Amino acid sequence: MLMLKEHFSVNSLGHLVVGRLDAVELAERFGTPLYVVDEQRIRERYRRFYRAFSSQWSEARVHYALKANSNMAVVKVLQSEGAGADVSSETELRIALKVGIPGEKIVFNGNYKTQRELELAILNDILINVDSFQELEAIDKIALRLGKRARIGFRINPDIRADTHPYIAVGLRESKFGFDVISGQALAAYKRAKEMSSVEILGIHANVGSQILDAAPFVEEAEKLMKIVSEIKERFGIDLKFVDLGGGIGIPYKPEDRELPPEEVAEKVVGVVRRVVQEKGLEKPTLLLEPGRFIVADACVLLARVGYTKERPGMPDWVAVDAGMNALMRPALYGAYHHIELANKMNQRNEHLVNVAGPLCESGDFLGKDRKLPKVEPGDLAVVFDVGAYGLAMACQHTAQPRPAMVLVNGDKAEVVRKRETYEDLTRLDQIPSWLL
Ligand SMILES: Cc1ncc(COP(=O)(O)O)c(C=O)c1O
Repeated sequence: MLMLKEHFSVNSLGHLVVGRLDAVELAERFGTPLYVVDEQRIRERYRRFYRAFSSQWSEARVHYALKANSNMAVVKVLQSEGAGADVSSETELRIALKVGIPGEKIVFNGNYKTQRELELAILNDILINVDSFQELEAIDKIALRLGKRARIGFRINPDIRADTHPYIAVGLRESKFGFDVISGQALAAYKRAKEMSSVEILGIHANVGSQILDAAPFVEEAEKLMKIVSEIKERFGIDLKFVDLGGGIGIPYKPEDRELPPEEVAEKVVGVVRRVVQEKGLEKPTLLLEPGRFIVADACVLLARVGYTKERPGMPDWVAVDAGMNALMRPALYGAYHHIELANKMNQRNEHLVNVAGPLCESGDFLGKDRKLPKVEPGDLAVVFDVGAYGLAMACQHTAQPRPAMVLVNGDKAEVVRKRETYEDLTRLDQIPSWLL
């Protein structure tokens, strides 16, 4: 039998159990493909993360990154834990407000925020991490027009190489994000903001990337940010209130992956902050963290029904399931590994070599290749693990496939928190022009 993460179990029928519910029954009750989220696991992960930092530094705030999973019920669970939010679009921003996260506990990130998004952010006292000089000018103008002072920080490009997929290594100098430090742009941004009447300079922000399993890039980030914090104090006499370290702590996806304990990151990063604060006589800043993946990834599985299997002599069998790259894009997009089992045969030995594919018309439409499963038969239930982050949030409608439903499980309760899309949903926005009618 495989090593399941601690919040899963297997019942006497050999079925996977999520919360206290049988995954096979969930699939029958709600249909497939189905995302299933364990509420208690999200709570555990949030609490562990928050404790890791707050036990080291009294002024620590966790802003859950909605981009990982912006489902309203998931965000509501985190709101009820006291989490703040990191948002990067109007809809994420409105979801955060809607579930009751106050504007002062929201940070807004991204390299292209529209006028409307900026207006909403300013009106709601959201901390905006500014990404360019032009955006800064736009914010000042909008705030002036609204008769408000915009609360801002600057996103700094930390120029850090983290060992992760190139698409999510966003802290490199050549990436599109943030103000360049080496050329002096970062300090120039603070200088310019100081001359403005309608902005309040509060923070500094960076993000080294995502799915990082080594503490070193976070330590390097903290060093770089605190160096700029000291320079800003020396040059402009400003004590920055917020030092925002972004997100990025990864999770083990493969059975052999190690975990990066947030406690280790917190201890090392806070060590840097504490040292620089003391050496330079700075005011103690509040540390902001923006975890997404760490909080939600392993709380969720994707259940997919096996339709057909196909033998290819000398090659792995093909197993066709009803969830493809439209439902879970990470394998196709990043070559990401997600562990797969048969939820109805958890006690059987994984000894048949298979490729697990979806129903779409692309060779990239697979969930896993060269995997070992028990003998697979039509009607079996495949379970894909660790899909809570960047799973449904990145799902699409390729080949007009409806996006899956999502169910939230709490102990022995389960409710739909995202309905399955239908033909009506998928065609609702299309229109045939008058001359074709
Ligand atoms: C600015 C920012 N904050 C937070 C996150 C969340 O990252 P993760 O889910 O890896 O913790 C991201 C992810 O890309 C990000 O760009």
